[in-house]
This record gives sequence, structure tokens and C-alpha cells, in this order.
Amino acid sequence: MHNTKFEILQRKNDETLLGGGKDRIESQHAKGKLTARERVNLLLDEGTFVEIGKFVMHRCKDFGLDKEFYLGDGVITGYGTVNGRPVYVFSQDFTIFGGSLSETNAEKIVKIMDLAAKNGVPVIGLNDSGGARIQEGVNSLAGYADIFYRNTRMSGVVPQISAVMGPCAGGAVYSPAITDFILMVEKTSYMFVTGPNVVKTVTHEEITSEELGGATAHSTKSGVCHFACANEIQCIETIKKILGYLPQNCEDDAPVYAYKPETNEKREKLNTLIPENPNQPYDMHEVIAEVIDSASFLEVHKNFAENIITGFGRVEGRSIGIVANQPAHLAGVLDIHSSNKAARFVRTCDAFNVPLLVFEDVPGFLPGTDQEWNGIISNGAKLLFAFSEATVPRITIITRKAYGGAYDVMNSKHIGADLNYAWPTAEIAVMGAKGAAEIIFKKEINESENKEQKLNEKIDEYKEKFANPYRAAHRGFIDEVILPEDTRIKVISAFKMLENKVDSLPRKKHGNIPL
Ligand code: HXC
Repeated sequence: MHNTKFEILQRKNDETLLGGGKDRIESQHAKGKLTARERVNLLLDEGTFVEIGKFVMHRCKDFGLDKEFYLGDGVITGYGTVNGRPVYVFSQDFTIFGGSLSETNAEKIVKIMDLAAKNGVPVIGLNDSGGARIQEGVNSLAGYADIFYRNTRMSGVVPQISAVMGPCAGGAVYSPAITDFILMVEKTSYMFVTGPNVVKTVTHEEITSEELGGATAHSTKSGVCHFACANEIQCIETIKKILGYLPQNCEDDAPVYAYKPETNEKREKLNTLIPENPNQPYDMHEVIAEVIDSASFLEVHKNFAENIITGFGRVEGRSIGIVANQPAHLAGVLDIHSSNKAARFVRTCDAFNVPLLVFEDVPGFLPGTDQEWNGIISNGAKLLFAFSEATVPRITIITRKAYGGAYDVMNSKHIGADLNYAWPTAEIAVMGAKGAAEIIFKKEINESENKEQKLNEKIDEYKEKFANPYRAAHRGFIDEVILPEDTRIKVISAFKMLENKVDSLPRKKHGNIPL
């Protein structure tokens, strides 16, 4: 009896599947990009997507838009599950007005963000947008601000992940920028506040979109992008992996994966990893791989500030965050970029109850005018601040150098680490032996007949006293000096012991991290 009415609904539902039309879908595919709907289907467990606001249309009557309408208005919103766990998702449809953000389009996104916040569920944004819908003027800007406001209010409450899967210009970059992780797809995605044309007009620089704001630029130079992915499928797979290390919200714990304990957790390979010569590099990735569950490492910011390594891993199936100096790159020195990178990661882990494991081999902060004038003081302080306020279980392993202020900064006992271990190869001192000898024995060396011999004598004297972990261990700043091969055993036991840690910050409105 209601057949005609049911048919109308069917027709409308079918219409939504066409997005901006066959030709535009073909053009999207020809660029090597999937459609908004294909992306949602790839992300979510099969058959779990529930769409919200499917028939929403824009209300703009200017510049001919009163004659051009599409059901859904260029963004697909709803919820579903990823590996059985609920998520909310929005996916911008470039085939409809270039995925540009209209007032109604923003309302749809805001609606699912509010639901996600109330229900403690992560939000995934699949971005592919030409920015503010130009025909709508300030209404579109208002829509952006409504989203930014929610991104900020929800920050640290539920995980927010942004995939940039097309050209994201203007307002389209600022929502991702506030979220926890940004993924980009190589060659097909761009992020910039102003594109190459504006750049040329203002600064006279000639630059392509790819050079200015492609995945390579943002994953190596600016650090805006956490994961540069070879294609869209890899991008979506990476989102799923990230979710696997995170809880649903800040009140929750990350999922624990099945883990079969090994009969021998000793890792003899670690005993021979540190070179005899303290100035020779080694790859800290090898240490990480030996200590955490095999193949559980997901590196974050892999190609940015490579002198520090950040990433997720698992210990006996439980999610942890790893921060590690990398002696194989710039000797593992702390500089502006590496301090920012690590501080951000520490805060992300702390916000979502992911315990921290730190591997330390750091010769200090990078000297020079470039670093000083660009603010290594306040940027280095961010890392100090981030560790100091982190209340999750925290463990540090000093493998070799722990010099100067960097010793304090890298999750030392003094700034709240729970357990601090050192290998016998650790050198915990104010600075390297040569620098120290040159300063404190300057007069003696200068007055000596054989200056070089005297200097070497003094270097040896300083090394003997400080280039080891025992002074720190005598004071209790190091809880135990351990053989490298026992590191995994100690880490397993330490995280178990800290499983029920409760700690909180003094009552305050919020801290004032030196941004
Ligand atoms: C309305 C838009 C649009 C926009 C693209 N389109 N951007 N419609 N508002 N912002 C439409 C185009 O008219 C076209 O419609 C379709 O989307 C595809 O666009 P093309 O240009 O054909 O595609 P392509 O060559 O791939 O170029 C994509 C692009 C370019 C790089 C994104 O479209 C572009 O530069 N757009 C404008 C970017 C911009 O300046 N946005 C405003 C930023 S200001 P048809 O009908 O032909 O398919 C902003 C302020 C917010 O966002 C600030 C908050 C802090």
C-alpha cells in the first residue's frame, strides 16, 4: 500500500551512492584516489557502517547554488566498528563541490563529534576538501570554527585521527592540526594554509603543491604529518593499527593483545650492541626491537627529527609508548624538532593512559645560534614539562650517554620516572670527559710541559669517576644497573609492578606548557 513511498526512499538512498556524479567519481579514481564512501567501507568492519544525515542538503542560495544540490552535501558521516570497537567517522566527498565545507556540512560533522564525545568513542576524519565553501562566505567559516572548538574540547578525551587524502587547503588543515595524529598519502594529498599561487604572489617563491605541502614535506620538514603512507589502502590500515594501541577514551585502557610468554626472555644480542668507542653510533631501533614484543613497533614521525625515535609497541600484549634517543642520527642530540616531537608523543600517551618506556643515549642539547635564536630553551622545556606532568607508569633505560640537562629531561628519576635502569656501559655525567677535563683542569693542563699528555690523563681521571652508572646508582638515581640481555625481563616485570599506578597532578585549571 505504501509501495510508492517506499520507492521514493529507495531512490533517494540510491542517489546518495552517486556522490557528485559518475564523471566526477571517474575523475577521482583517475587521480588514484578512492571515493569518500569507498574509504569508509575500507575503514570499517564489513556491514557495520550506520550513516547519519544522509539526506542533508545545503541552504545556500548564492552564486547559482540554489540550482545545485546533492544529498548528503559532500560529507558522509556516521559510525561503525574497527576490529569490533566503535568509532565515529566523517569522510569528505571531493566529488561534491570539491569536498568544501558548507554550513550544513559542518553541522553533520559536529553532530557526530558531539555523539562521540558523549559516548567516549574515537573520531576518524577522512579529509579531502578544497576548504571553506567559497559561495557560503562566513557561514562556512562559522562551520569550521564549530569543528575546531569541538576538536579542542575533545582533545585528550577521545582519540581523534585525521587522514588527509586529497588537497586540504585553508580551514581544511586546522581541524586535522588539532587532532592527535595526521596521516597523509604520498603524491595525492596536500596541506597548506595558502597554496602555491598565493605563495608566489606574496613571497615570489615558485613552488609546486607537492613541494610546498605534500606528504614528504610534512613528514620530514614541518612534522605536521605523523605518517606518510604510500597509498590510501596503507593509510587506512595505519589508522586501524593506531587505534589498536589506544583506548576508546581517557577513562579507559588500551586493548590487551593475546601474548604467549616465551621460555627465554633473555636477549643476548643486546650485550654486544654498544660499540667500544663511545663516539661510534649504533641503531637504537635494534634495542627497541629486542625489548618489546616482536614486530609490535609502530613508529610515529618516522622521518621527522630522526635523532629521537617515538612510537607504540607492546610488552606482553600491553600497549606502551616508546621514546628513544637515536645515536645513529646526529649522535642522538636533543634539538628543537626532536624535543617537540617527543613532547607531543609523551603527552599523547599520557592523555590516553599508555605507559612510557624511554631508552636514553644522549650527548646533550645541540649548541649554536640557530638553536638558541629559534628557542631551544622553551622547546627543550616542553619535553621536560611533558615528562614531568605525565602520570602514566614510566621506565627509563640508560644504554650509554646521559649527559647534562638532557639527563634530567629524558625521564629521569627526579622528574617522576618510576623505575630507572642503566646498562654497565652508561655514562652519567654533566658532560663528556674531554669537555669536562678541558674546563675543570684548564690551568693545570696549560701549565703542563706536555699539554696533550696532561689532557689525556685528566680525561681518563674524569672518565674513571663519572663515565659509568655507579655514582648515580650510589645515590639511588638509578634503581639497578642491569646486563643488557636482562632488559626485556626487567621491563616486563616493571610494567607488571606498575600496572595499578595511581598518580595525579595538583589541582589546577591547566598547566602552562611553554608553547
Ligand atoms: C566551493 C569548490 C572549492 C571551494 C573546489 N571547489 N574548492 N567549491 N568552495 N573551496 C569545487 C570546484 O569549483 C570544482 O567544481 C570542484 O570543486 C573540483 O575542483 P577543481 O578545482 O576542479 O579540482 P582540482 O583541480 O583538483 O583542484 C582542487 C583544489 C582547488 C586545489 C582544492 O579546487 C582549489 O584551489 N580550491 C580552492 C581552495 C581554497 O582557496 N579554499 C578556500 C580556503 S579559505 P566542479 O563543479 O567544477 O566540479 C578557507 C578559510 C577557512 O578555507 C579558514 C579557517 C581558519
